[in-house]
Amino acid sequence: MKKGLLALLFVVSVMSAFAQQPDSVFVKGYTTGKNENKNGLHIAYSFDGKNWISIGNEFSFLRSDYGRWGSSKKMYDPVLVKNSTTEWACYFFTEAEHKVVAVAYSSDLLLWKPQDYFLYEEVKTRFPAISNALSNAAVIHKQPWSLVQALINHTDLEAYRNIQYSVTAQSFAEKNASLKPVHVSLSVNMGNKKKISDKLVGVFFEDLNYAADGGLYAELIQNRDFEYNSNDRREWNSATNWINKNGKLVIETAQPVSKNNPHYAVLQNGDVIVNNGFDGIAVTAGEKYDLSLFVRSANKGSLSIVLIDSNGTKVSNEVNIAANTSSWKQYQAVFTANTSVKHARLSITAKKQETAIDLVSLFPQKTFKNRKNGLRADLAQAIADIKPRFMRFPGGCLAHGNGLDNIYRWKNSIGKLEERKPDFNLWGYHQTMGLGYYEYFQFCEDIGAEPLPVLAAGVPCQNSSHHHQTGIAGQQGGIPLNEMEAYIQDILDLIEWANADKNTTWGKLRAAAGHPAPFNLKYIGIGNEDLISEVFKERFAMIYKAIKAKYPAITVIGTVGPFYEGSDYSFGWDFASKLEVPMVDEHYYVPPAWLINNQDFYDKYDRTKPKVYLGEYAAHVRGRPNNMETALAEALYLCSVERNGDVVEMTSYAPLLAKEGHTQWNPDMIYFNNSEIKLTPGYEVQKMFGTNAGDEYIESNFTTDNLNADVQKRIAKSVVRDAKTGDLIIKLVNLLPVEVSVDVKDLNLSNYNIAKTVLQGNPDEKSVKPVTTTDVVLNNKLVLPKYSFTVLRIKAK
Ligand code: AHR
Repeated sequence: MKKGLLALLFVVSVMSAFAQQPDSVFVKGYTTGKNENKNGLHIAYSFDGKNWISIGNEFSFLRSDYGRWGSSKKMYDPVLVKNSTTEWACYFFTEAEHKVVAVAYSSDLLLWKPQDYFLYEEVKTRFPAISNALSNAAVIHKQPWSLVQALINHTDLEAYRNIQYSVTAQSFAEKNASLKPVHVSLSVNMGNKKKISDKLVGVFFEDLNYAADGGLYAELIQNRDFEYNSNDRREWNSATNWINKNGKLVIETAQPVSKNNPHYAVLQNGDVIVNNGFDGIAVTAGEKYDLSLFVRSANKGSLSIVLIDSNGTKVSNEVNIAANTSSWKQYQAVFTANTSVKHARLSITAKKQETAIDLVSLFPQKTFKNRKNGLRADLAQAIADIKPRFMRFPGGCLAHGNGLDNIYRWKNSIGKLEERKPDFNLWGYHQTMGLGYYEYFQFCEDIGAEPLPVLAAGVPCQNSSHHHQTGIAGQQGGIPLNEMEAYIQDILDLIEWANADKNTTWGKLRAAAGHPAPFNLKYIGIGNEDLISEVFKERFAMIYKAIKAKYPAITVIGTVGPFYEGSDYSFGWDFASKLEVPMVDEHYYVPPAWLINNQDFYDKYDRTKPKVYLGEYAAHVRGRPNNMETALAEALYLCSVERNGDVVEMTSYAPLLAKEGHTQWNPDMIYFNNSEIKLTPGYEVQKMFGTNAGDEYIESNFTTDNLNADVQKRIAKSVVRDAKTGDLIIKLVNLLPVEVSVDVKDLNLSNYNIAKTVLQGNPDEKSVKPVTTTDVVLNNKLVLPKYSFTVLRIKAK
């Protein structure tokens, strides 16, 4: 249906509804078994109590939030009850067996408070009113028509927005096949400028898609510490990724290297064990690799270690270790690869006597900045090239974990590798913690980015499948209040570790790790997409107040849910505003057309409220590629973010990294395998913004010969000035299927040195590189090719 027609129908339906409106109608809630009972609560009205009309054609007013995404989130037999004059309650079962009852409250049937869950047996004794309501399934209410009208308006608006947001580059081009090239004039008002954040573009690093182990962390041995287990993945165990050519690999735990690393392998004379790395080990001829391992052998065992290719042919020198120690000792050696192979393996042969081994590690010597226990140079460099002004880590959902026991504890990630405490990764694999807080902070320093650690707000992921203390799966629960003091102390210790003098308790550990000078931490994120429940609020407030009291200079960043609207967004903003949290973290993954149609999203933000960190965002299209269509929509939106750089302080596209063959989430910014990295159009956009950042926004205007609003909103511009260089930077996005010619005579650019960078490609292209031309003469006119992003950097004289 045409959008204009739909809008008209919307107006007509509202008007006609008003024209015939009754005083009151019957209202009831219901659900269907459709979509495996995941469609949630629908609401219907009736004039006679017999014939019912579904509002919004089975619109979902409330969905179950119980349990994990995918298998859970189901609703059975809901009842909708008017609880008081101002409040509605919805009670429903979370599974067909009627074991758990969910309870949700709302004042308008649109925004719902976080759900509570109780065992039905408990409800029967503790909450007879709820129990009675549940046994009287079809509760019907007589309600004023105005309530139904508000719900109809809401669903009509949603339907309109769904159509608007489903427009793609292709459907727009088809509909506008006769569109002629567009002409615009650009004027810049140098007298009207405002300060904007100089930290607008950063990166979001989360260990998902094998971003850390097997990814950015340059360790080449997988399951180096024999700590893989079934919590990581059902079929995994201590011997995973190791093959013993003589049969089963023997794993023991008596007197381990460290209590945090309890498993090790015991080799008998003649055993040959092979580690396949992460899908093979890529080595380059002539390059050196550092081997290290812990060894224990009471009876003078010895090991012979070598890199081999997939046929078993040696591809490096052989290292021999005589292990005559009855206590654990670390050995180190260096391999030089004599040939380049993508799928090498590490082979260890035991000779003479029984020998125990643990923490078998292999690193390329060429890590990023040649750091020990360092990062993969090519991936780290690609991140550095964005010139990110900050880096958020270690997540995302990973930060608050799947259940209380899986909350990421920064203290488990520092110190000697053998003493770090591995954990399962909620994305379905293993975290060695080898890439830990020290390495994150060091990397931030190496690339000139502010470190932005995100810690759990005393609650785990709201989709946790691990039971919290009530024994009911699926809700975030919270660290027991009597353990919160210790939890808060951990957070305060982090700040001491990062910032305090090397003579303090925690500063000493940082210095011992190799960094005597403080890291100068300025930001700390508390919470990630949490449910804004009472449990959350109580714990967040405790943490926030403690940080503020002890470290008032630290900017604490709160959380306002996973969407750009809805309950967590609304309640989160209210809560953060009342508490005067300085900044909040917004997340939204949306279709390109959302970004195109919401370029005024932040224009409307109240400048007196918390600042915004847009911590996770990306354009998602069908099939979830990262292509020119998504990248240009992001560029277009970022122009509007620069315009609002006085309220939006930071942004980070998410997620950052994805390993081929291990990708749980698409799209990502950088794809890679063991030997290549694949930069996406979205990466190029981030880099063009990151390397062309400014700290002053300058007012500019477009006038155009095309008056179609849908055409106009596919062209964007932003003009900033970088105080350090004095350069003026103009960004121009053309998401149209035709060329846009820009008249720039008003800018008077004839005598300037200009560098022009253009990223151009058809919407579905996934591999596009920007082209930069220097000393460009504009002759008062600039052409923006169809589907392109252009940056003009006008050098200060
Ligand atoms: O970026 C991937 C995931 O998306 C993050 O872990 C989470 O915060 C969000 O839901």
